[in-house]
Amino acid sequence: MLFRKKIILGVTASIAAYKSALLARLLVKAGAEVKVIMTHSAQEFITPLTLSTLSRNPVYSNFTTGSQGEWINHVELGLWADALVIAPTSANTLANSANGICNNLLQAVYLSARCPVFFAPAMDVDMWHHPSTQNNIKRLEQYGNHILHPQSGELASGLVGEGRMLEPEDIVKKLEHFFAIEKQLKHLNILITAGPTQEKIDDVRYISNHSSGKMGYAIADELANRGAKVTIVSGPVNIKPSNTSIHVVNVISAAQMREEVKARFSDCNIALLVAAVADYKPLQSVAGKIKKSDANLQLDLVQTDDILAEIASTKKDNQIVGGFALEMENAKENAQTKLTNKKLDFIVLNELSNENDVFGNEFNKISILNKKLHWESFEKKSKFDVASDIADFINNIVKNV
Ligand code: CTP
Repeated sequence: MLFRKKIILGVTASIAAYKSALLARLLVKAGAEVKVIMTHSAQEFITPLTLSTLSRNPVYSNFTTGSQGEWINHVELGLWADALVIAPTSANTLANSANGICNNLLQAVYLSARCPVFFAPAMDVDMWHHPSTQNNIKRLEQYGNHILHPQSGELASGLVGEGRMLEPEDIVKKLEHFFAIEKQLKHLNILITAGPTQEKIDDVRYISNHSSGKMGYAIADELANRGAKVTIVSGPVNIKPSNTSIHVVNVISAAQMREEVKARFSDCNIALLVAAVADYKPLQSVAGKIKKSDANLQLDLVQTDDILAEIASTKKDNQIVGGFALEMENAKENAQTKLTNKKLDFIVLNELSNENDVFGNEFNKISILNKKLHWESFEKKSKFDVASDIADFINNIVKNV
């Protein structure tokens, strides 16, 4: 999978820099063409000579080279690469990258690169858990970068905890997996709904819910990263997809979401409705603002149309429709009833509990039921990893259709 892949290996100042030698060797052994960029401080941990020998290419650190001060074209380097892997990534490089700071060649290449970027952080446990580091990680993920999460173990400081760089063999496996699935879902047209809907009470008030849209957007990104053409019909959220190929159609209410989904459904191979659509809306929405009075206010609510049930009832044999179920009690039983009643190909179950507070959080724990009524359960994971499990599941169905 790495044969002839062009990889820039960024090496920054961390004691784990010695492992970048093994990583360079493994990448070259797997057939990749490797060019190394080191920060100046990284050279206090490992020599450029070691890395140039193992990568079979000159090592870059400066914007210029040679006696004539020839310019190293960072834009060209960024465009050359099929992947940029920064291993180890120090806390400093992580912070610079998250904030667009360009104070060395590696940062300039990172900002210029159009290829996927992988960060393999390595630092002490408290540095890793510091809120600023964690915020930087979140931000880098939101920009569409891949984080190769550090492992737990003994650290250079003698402390034990999270912060050890992922082992070079595991980094190579992750890269191989990435390139194996890169075009896995090309030719597929996938429709996703995400976020909440807002149902107007009057011109200033509405009924809605706490959905952040993170799960739906993470799924959309993962599917697009695997080559699918993805459209998100999205309720009001504060996020954007990282993959710029995704087409976002913004809506406010359940009725608008229904219109936009129906208009696009016949053209899609797969529809996965993740949105937390309001089940009820006010019978009438009042023009202007309802004035406060001494009497109680009665709101008549009527059901919204069930978009998922509606499209699933019209689907063709070669279309796949999946839904989400958010359940607190009798979770699996209720999810199965939804799958059967709505005639779905699969349903993703979120069990809402104190341990799995789905709304607005970065983590989620899911199980998936297929139409043969077989359950697959997953560990609690980041929404990005959950999205990857769902994409694997979709790929398996597509392969077997
Ligand atoms: N859904 C929809 N249109 C609606 C309501 C829900 O498309 N008007 C979709 C959601 O996007 C999700 C699934 O249906 O994929 C959720 O089913 P639903 O029956 O609404 O279950 P819950 O919202 O989980 O809640 P409840 O148990 O109250 O039915």
